[in-house]
Amino acid sequence: MTIPTHAVPARLLDESKCPKPHVSSLEQYKEMHQESVENPVGFWRKMAKSNLDWISPFSDETVMQGSFMDGDIAWFPHGALNVAYNCIDRHASKNPDSVAMIFEADEPGNHEKITYATLLREVCRFANVLKKYGVRKGDTVAIYMPMVPEAAYAMLACARIGAVHSVVFAGFSAEALRDRMVDAKCKVLVTADQGLRGGRVVHLKKIADEALAQSPLVKSVIVFQRTGDDKVPFDPTRDVWWHEECVTQRPFCPCEPMNAEDPLFMLYTSGSTGKPKGVVHTTGGYLLGAHTSVKYIFDLHPGDIYGCMADVGWITGHTYIVYGPLSNGVTTVVFESTPTYPDASRFWEVVDTHKLTQLYTAPTAIRALRRLGDSFVEKHSLESLRVLGSVGEPINPEAWDWYNTVVGRGRCAIVDTYWQTETGSIIVTPLPGCIPTKPGAATVPFFGVDLAILDANTGKEIPYDGSEEITGVLALRQTIPSIARTVYGDHNRYLDTYMRPYKGFYFTGDGASRDTDGYYWIKGRVDDVINVSGHRMSTAEIESALITHPACAESAAVGIADDLTGQAVVCFCTLKSHHADEASVAAAFRFQVRTQIGPFATPKAIVIVNDLPKTRSGKIMRRILRKAAGGEVSLEDVEDDEAIRAKLGDISTLADPSIVKHIVEKVKKAG
Ligand code: WTA
Repeated sequence: MTIPTHAVPARLLDESKCPKPHVSSLEQYKEMHQESVENPVGFWRKMAKSNLDWISPFSDETVMQGSFMDGDIAWFPHGALNVAYNCIDRHASKNPDSVAMIFEADEPGNHEKITYATLLREVCRFANVLKKYGVRKGDTVAIYMPMVPEAAYAMLACARIGAVHSVVFAGFSAEALRDRMVDAKCKVLVTADQGLRGGRVVHLKKIADEALAQSPLVKSVIVFQRTGDDKVPFDPTRDVWWHEECVTQRPFCPCEPMNAEDPLFMLYTSGSTGKPKGVVHTTGGYLLGAHTSVKYIFDLHPGDIYGCMADVGWITGHTYIVYGPLSNGVTTVVFESTPTYPDASRFWEVVDTHKLTQLYTAPTAIRALRRLGDSFVEKHSLESLRVLGSVGEPINPEAWDWYNTVVGRGRCAIVDTYWQTETGSIIVTPLPGCIPTKPGAATVPFFGVDLAILDANTGKEIPYDGSEEITGVLALRQTIPSIARTVYGDHNRYLDTYMRPYKGFYFTGDGASRDTDGYYWIKGRVDDVINVSGHRMSTAEIESALITHPACAESAAVGIADDLTGQAVVCFCTLKSHHADEASVAAAFRFQVRTQIGPFATPKAIVIVNDLPKTRSGKIMRRILRKAAGGEVSLEDVEDDEAIRAKLGDISTLADPSIVKHIVEKVKKAG
């Protein structure tokens, strides 16, 4: 298939219709990018001075320190600043009445505008509440909140007083919340009585209480009242109400001067092992990455109303709902609902009601909305939009085209943005005013990003001269300000995961190719990470959830392609003893994953098998499971040695070759 290249839409370059893009020609991008990788110190020094406010200036001599080789990265280590000041105070003093946030509540028609002056007061009040409950600079605070402005207030209040927040996505289970609170040594938890999403109630406090029963370090729980349901459990010896506490506090709280390298937050993410890691981001470099990336990639201008539909529980919410847009002083949308509640018009109604200038969402949402038909989109004008973003997983060209033509009406820039929790901000992406796009390609590196494609077998960089496409694993050659600095409590794991696989490079864990135009195409994970609707989880995490079930002897989780969610999880399990009713065991196993990790991790199918396909040395051959689960091997194939070899490759090392037939039969039965 040849994929067409789309020029920058003419409207974006017409100054009578749109503000002039920050970068408006390919030459300008090339010059800026070249400078940023050839002279990163000079480039980021300039950016840090012109975009951020510093309490005490960083030293021009020590803008960038450390390397991937040694894993000792630091940016602006002699400067001090405060993230909350940069995101709130500096805008509130100049434009107190400009709108910082629009809260679009779950029920349509319920929205609220929060000005920068109000944001400042609310964040200060809550910062004082945190102090009252003993939170000091460097302490970790867990935040387990629905998508309400108070979630952002809590994050910014931590930033203001120098506490490190650890936001746990509200879709995580009690077990997952407990593990994260215990690992991060949190003393305070901020949560809500209940959450509302798509008309459904999420029993946050009830789940939090289960987690708290096994998190002895947490001494205080601050509960935001979202629904006011009077049956929500409340322990007066430990719990306090957000609203009762805030009214007693003065709406002023000084900003703690933070060293640029002081941690700002940690966020847990899945890697190839079962234990999620607390990725740590620091103050100066992270904020600079967040600020500049959203400014250039979404082409923010004063007065813009920017809507990122992610959840603050994930990195996209941190960087592109809270820190990036607020640091730029624009209006950011806090969206509590789902793309399909009450129907598939919801996004488009939000766009037209609030006159959004940018919309940022995930391929899964785009695919789901596309399936439901164009009529929901077509009845809206969507004229205010300039930039449409996609993030979290590869976007297939069909979904890209739909986003471009049906939503964007051919007059918006489509930015397929590639990045990770660990990079803190977007690293591969088009820029709206200057980069021609190709559906499915994340296109070109952002400023400061120096990419390499490595050969996974030799570990060597694959030479590229533009004459032919190259494919390998994606790595960074040079540090960027917003890259994670460590894994909380386990720096060695940080080195092992990112710095040691390919010496001198940061390893992304993704496969990628670079085409003859120099564009990058992200192919997906090369490790045991499965990406379901943009949610990252590791096979090991799912397998450990399964084997804690008393009936499960062994398990192997694999990711298969799914039209809607990108990938889906299929688990193969063996039982400790025979059960006549395998369907109910499978249902219990699905429930087990759901309760141990969260509803978003629920496997699409559980296949109960007599044994897993193991080599004589006992290693599970996942390739067989992946192909069987993906329907790539039929029952006819298993009778034919040739077909088996063609479909599954060499299986001669299998301890019991007859297992293949059994597995294929079981997959068929499980549907
Ligand atoms: C995948 C989300 C293709 C990738 C910001 C990465 C993508 C993982 C894209 C990080 C994209 C993210 N195209 N793949 N535009 N964006 N990914 O940490 O596999 O939740 O490694 O960060 O998502 O997921 P994470």
